[in-house]
Amino acid sequence: MSRQMIVGNWKMNGTRQAAQALVASLVDRLPQGSADVVICPPFTQLAPVADKLAASPIGLGAQDCHQAVSGAYTGDVSAAMLADLGVGHVILGHSERRQGHAELDETVREKAVAAIRAGLVPVICIGETAEQRDAGQHEDVLGWQIEGSLPEGFGGVVAYEPIWAIGSGRAATEEQIAQTMAFLRAELIRQFGETGKAVKILYGGSVNAGNAPSILSIPEVAGALVGGASLDADAFLSIVGAAS
Ligand code: G3P
Repeated sequence: MSRQMIVGNWKMNGTRQAAQALVASLVDRLPQGSADVVICPPFTQLAPVADKLAASPIGLGAQDCHQAVSGAYTGDVSAAMLADLGVGHVILGHSERRQGHAELDETVREKAVAAIRAGLVPVICIGETAEQRDAGQHEDVLGWQIEGSLPEGFGGVVAYEPIWAIGSGRAATEEQIAQTMAFLRAELIRQFGETGKAVKILYGGSVNAGNAPSILSIPEVAGALVGGASLDADAFLSIVGAAS
């Protein structure tokens, strides 16, 4: 099995000073031979963080990109602009963008195509609401999200983030994660054939230093997408340390 991957999504957090202090701590303290680590600061901190990461194995990711190459899209950032800064990964279709910016599966797929063209690895987020899980619809919803959001022949990363687990302090149970991971793998293979086997599936939603060892040892969990705990160097490095 390949190395697990821990992705830190800083969301809309990080002044210059705070970002510099956090990244300096991660660079200094990252254990040798650790899991693959990617941090995703807000757009404004990408360039200074990229400078700090220059001689580090920690990868740089962004939290979104536009689907167009360039042009009249006020306030947006293209995948090529990110690649130009040294960004290697981009989170796409996060539920906070699907809900807060009305992003549809189709838009997420277009963004993924643009990201791949620019040489970036998309980390495509999918996940069901509490109501959908309670109604037993989560597998249908996840299947539709895979079908709508992933481009043909997708070989990147999918992050399963149940919306009710994000920022709630209530991660999905090991049983829920194991069952859903098995479903997602089967669904990826059903929809994409052989290439579906290569997609890495991360879990995200209230991952912390305490629950990371058990979550990361669940079969099919290729790593974690971490929000709140990625803003604390001690907590994030503990999660990294729990990965194999
Ligand atoms: O993308 C990460 C995410 O949404 C999970 O956030 O704070 O629950 O770890 P958090």
